[in-house]
Amino acid sequence: MDYLRITGPSQLEGEITVSGAKNAALPLIAATLLSDEPCTIENIPEVADIHTLLKLFDKLGSKFIFEDHTLNIDNEAIDNTTATYDIVKTMRASILVLGPLLSRFGHCEVSLPGGCAIGQRPIDLHLKALELMGATIEIKNGYIVATAPAGLNGAHIIFDKVTVTGSENIIMAAALAKGKTELINVAKEPEVVQLCEVLYDSGVDIEGIGTDELIIHGTDREPLKLNSFSIIPDRIEAGTYLCAAAITYGTITLNNIIADHLDAVTAKLHEAGCRIETRNDSMTLYPAAKLKSFEISTTEYPGFPTDMQAQFMALATQAEGVSIIEERLFENRFMHVSELQRLGASIHLKGHTATLNGPIQLLGAEVMATDLRASSALVLAGLAAKGVTNIHRIYHLDRGYEVLHEKLKKLGAKIERLKE
Ligand code: EPZ
Repeated sequence: MDYLRITGPSQLEGEITVSGAKNAALPLIAATLLSDEPCTIENIPEVADIHTLLKLFDKLGSKFIFEDHTLNIDNEAIDNTTATYDIVKTMRASILVLGPLLSRFGHCEVSLPGGCAIGQRPIDLHLKALELMGATIEIKNGYIVATAPAGLNGAHIIFDKVTVTGSENIIMAAALAKGKTELINVAKEPEVVQLCEVLYDSGVDIEGIGTDELIIHGTDREPLKLNSFSIIPDRIEAGTYLCAAAITYGTITLNNIIADHLDAVTAKLHEAGCRIETRNDSMTLYPAAKLKSFEISTTEYPGFPTDMQAQFMALATQAEGVSIIEERLFENRFMHVSELQRLGASIHLKGHTATLNGPIQLLGAEVMATDLRASSALVLAGLAAKGVTNIHRIYHLDRGYEVLHEKLKKLGAKIERLKE
């Protein structure tokens, strides 16, 4: 197993290119199941979660070549519609094959995702919506067994909560359903919007793209012809590097970004005292004279993303005054708190709210990564800490950050990837 050794403090300087968004690539690869013709997707990040999904596709009978961030995939010969436990247990986003497999083939079995480090993460809303579309859903031997022999029907669906992968699953299911599906309270994350745009470009009539109400006119099981497309930049990876610059009082430029997708994040960096300049598809962060405290409450897009909460908590350790961070989406997404405390952070946790006092001179220590974003917070804290920080279990980071240590090294960080 690998670990990261960071010797701090560093001051980051330079320029890097942001990779394609993992959370856009996963549903868009799943969407290729709606087609029986070859399709090409560009700018896919080379991260572990993508390889896990492709392993699942291989088992389904998909034919593909993934190299140089480009996926050429042909799902004509799919002859298996079961997503097995061994894969789903390593990546919950495997649930994204449920909607497309069911709508194209009329049946599928997907292992029920179990618990998760950041919260319970139920999938009841995915299943309820598919039932409203006429599917029969049973839970047998740990598997969701979904059938709709005559295909899915359009329906009027109101999501009780805003769910990102739930919205994506049902949008894909509705694309091949019979008739019109009205979706209310749909997630508006850029990743959901790109999914809708790709389906629209492939001939699916979707009204309301980018809003929380969609009307999708299904093709009645006519498979789609997906045109080639490129994955949008990863707004969470970009936000993480902006925080890395801010916490080290460095100046960095990010290329390949969509600035609008980062509005909630850059607004908070502004509040913390940083200056940000945007030009077309690049952005430069200039450091604060002195980082100032801030308040954050995570919510759905376009609000402040839960996927940036941990990184801003690392930043708050260096901000002057009291920062307050409230996590409203996931009940257990504070696993980084005790690790940041090992570096010396002053954090008081009560319920869903963390209160931090800063700035604190963090001191290097041994720490453990617990989930993807929690791990990136430890990297940021390690960059600001004095001395050596060893971050263990970095397979969490590999799930969603492409060559993180190489990008940070390019920016001047003293970081090494070593074997335990
Ligand atoms: C997506 O997870 C992302 N994953 C997560 O990214 C992200 O943290 C999350 O959205 C929130 O933005 C992918 O896109 C692959 P949700 P998802 O369904 O879709 C509740 C990362 O680090 N809920 O939007 O699983 C749920 O418990 C990650 O890249 C139900 O109650 O999240 C949560 O409180 C991790 N019933 C809230 O809704 C359901 O059926 C939002 O979850 C579904 C969700």
